[in-house]
Amino acid sequence: MTDQSQQPADQTFPPPEEFKRNANVTADEYDKAAADPLAFWAEKSRELLDWETDFSETLDWSDPPFAKWFVGGRLNVAYNCLDRHVEAGNGDRVAIHFEGEPGDSRTYTYAELTAEVCKAANMLTSLGVKSGDRVAIYMPMVPEATIAMLACARLGAAHSVVFGGFSSDALHSRIMDAEAEVVITADGGHRRGKPSSLKPAVDEALAKGDTPVKHVVVVERAGNDIEMTDGRDQYWRELMDQQSDAHTPEFFDSEHPLYILYTSGTTGKPKGILHTSGGYLTQVLYSMYASFDIKPEQDVFWCTADVGWVTGHSYVAYGPLAAGATQVIYEGTPDSPHRGRWWEIVEKYKVSIFYAAPTAIRACMKWGREHAQKFDLSSLRLLGSVGEPINPEAWLWYHEVIGGGRCPIVDTWWQTETGAHMIVPLPGAVDLKPGSAQRPLPGISAQVVDDAGHPCETDAAGFLTITEPWPAMLRGIYKDPERFKETYWSQVEGQYFAGDGARFDADGDIWFLGRIDDVMNVSGHRLSTAEIESALVSHPDVAESAVVGAADETSGQAVIAFVVLRGKATEDDDTAAALQNHVRREIGPIAKPKQVFIVEELPKTRSGKIMRRLLKDVAENRGIGNTTTLADASVMDVIASRVAEG
Ligand code: WT7
Repeated sequence: MTDQSQQPADQTFPPPEEFKRNANVTADEYDKAAADPLAFWAEKSRELLDWETDFSETLDWSDPPFAKWFVGGRLNVAYNCLDRHVEAGNGDRVAIHFEGEPGDSRTYTYAELTAEVCKAANMLTSLGVKSGDRVAIYMPMVPEATIAMLACARLGAAHSVVFGGFSSDALHSRIMDAEAEVVITADGGHRRGKPSSLKPAVDEALAKGDTPVKHVVVVERAGNDIEMTDGRDQYWRELMDQQSDAHTPEFFDSEHPLYILYTSGTTGKPKGILHTSGGYLTQVLYSMYASFDIKPEQDVFWCTADVGWVTGHSYVAYGPLAAGATQVIYEGTPDSPHRGRWWEIVEKYKVSIFYAAPTAIRACMKWGREHAQKFDLSSLRLLGSVGEPINPEAWLWYHEVIGGGRCPIVDTWWQTETGAHMIVPLPGAVDLKPGSAQRPLPGISAQVVDDAGHPCETDAAGFLTITEPWPAMLRGIYKDPERFKETYWSQVEGQYFAGDGARFDADGDIWFLGRIDDVMNVSGHRLSTAEIESALVSHPDVAESAVVGAADETSGQAVIAFVVLRGKATEDDDTAAALQNHVRREIGPIAKPKQVFIVEELPKTRSGKIMRRLLKDVAENRGIGNTTTLADASVMDVIASRVAEG
């Protein structure tokens, strides 16, 4: 690369003139929104969405932190994602280009997708699903996942999508917490040339007994052998074939629950993040226009995230469809069957807006630019990044090799809890700075505060807070209002505490510094140290464990576990591998520790608190840090030599 890479952080990239001229949103929007954020959001919501009944109040914040947005308004989210585009004469526009991993493909126009969602809504109704119910969705990346989500939205039933890479235990606990009566799943999906099964995990989860599940609907995708339980399990295709493709949507209150999505927190039990309808869809759709500059009549949008994560909810299932845009959905991994697969798909569908995670960009960078250079990427005009800070080297590679030097990159900071983009440089309005997410979205206000909750000076590291409620904010943790208050609203009076370290630079741009709590970020996926620790101690041989996220070149962080065995258990060559597999079974492959170190003792303070910071130092090869508060300082020497042995 050029000398750009020597001082990446100092260089800025102004938007190309042509991009700026045609941008949906220009710099004046920041001032306009800041002058009156509520009026701004009210205007956006009316402009962007079709409300069946207009709202009478923009925000009810009389009982913080429980917000109500667009009070009194009524709408149907699925209608806004589908029918209205057909009614506007765009029924023939492609909604989804689906590319299966084995190379099969399918296209749905808006008219076809609307018909499928209507059928699926009728199917769910025939199974007894009604407004207010919960439906679990455990699927590979196929269009049926999106169809199932929208069918739930159409009926006013909240979906709880469980990532297909999660284990039967994780699925079971989520089904129980959400009290889901229906599970929509598939036999399996295609992954790296093989079927990766899903239905057996559903069977295992339900075999634990006591679940409220009455029906399991199975999409046939991978052709792997599965068992069907009479009276409970039915095939999607057989049920769908019996349904009419006409369905009249009902309209729901703006605050009607749309979905629950479980995410990791600082304790072992995942939190059910609750999102509702009107505010969520307003901000998701606004960000499609503002951050991604979407032009629905010409763009082809591709967000590579799985629908099991919030990115797949907001920028696969809801955002692109609410915009009436054409999108690509791809089932597989970027390196199957070859390392240029993503770029082959960009060429095939002439993708113009591409959104992916830094960990994947770094992997592509490692594989080498020749894989990308085999394909015509000239259709691209905007790139996005999400999940963790993008390091300037990866930013510059993405910009040059994928974006041909002409595409702005939007680094989007947000969370499962925020529902939609929060901190992001608007591509036509801001000079881009590699590595910084830069500015709050118009209508959003953020701060960086110190321990005492006071705003930090320029360049000083502190904690990011959101100072005003925002439309797509979580409305709570499902069934746990106290945990909601305590997790997000108890640190700084009246402000939302995001759990991320950050600083403002002299230009007023925000730089993210990673999580400040025990939440790890592995390949852009959120994992909690406590959750993995409790999985480890559930193994009969384990007495105690400590898990840290250690810096890792490709995945951002890697899970490293330190384990003390029970008195009777003896270590052999297979112990570490057995514990790795145990975590894989308990939570899922993404949580499997990269390394497990069996140690005699964990470093603890005199009051018995495990000092993970010291373990992290060792895991990141920084040697042994300050051990003065340890009850027994020699513990760390023993651990360090263990780690050095590998
Ligand atoms: C955490 C949220 C947002 C969808 C995917 C992850 C980190 C996310 C960025 C970014 C720096 C980022 C934060 C955040 N994060 N995007 N652009 N720059 N950090 O959602 O699983 O809820 O994780 O991901 O630490 O708190 P999530």
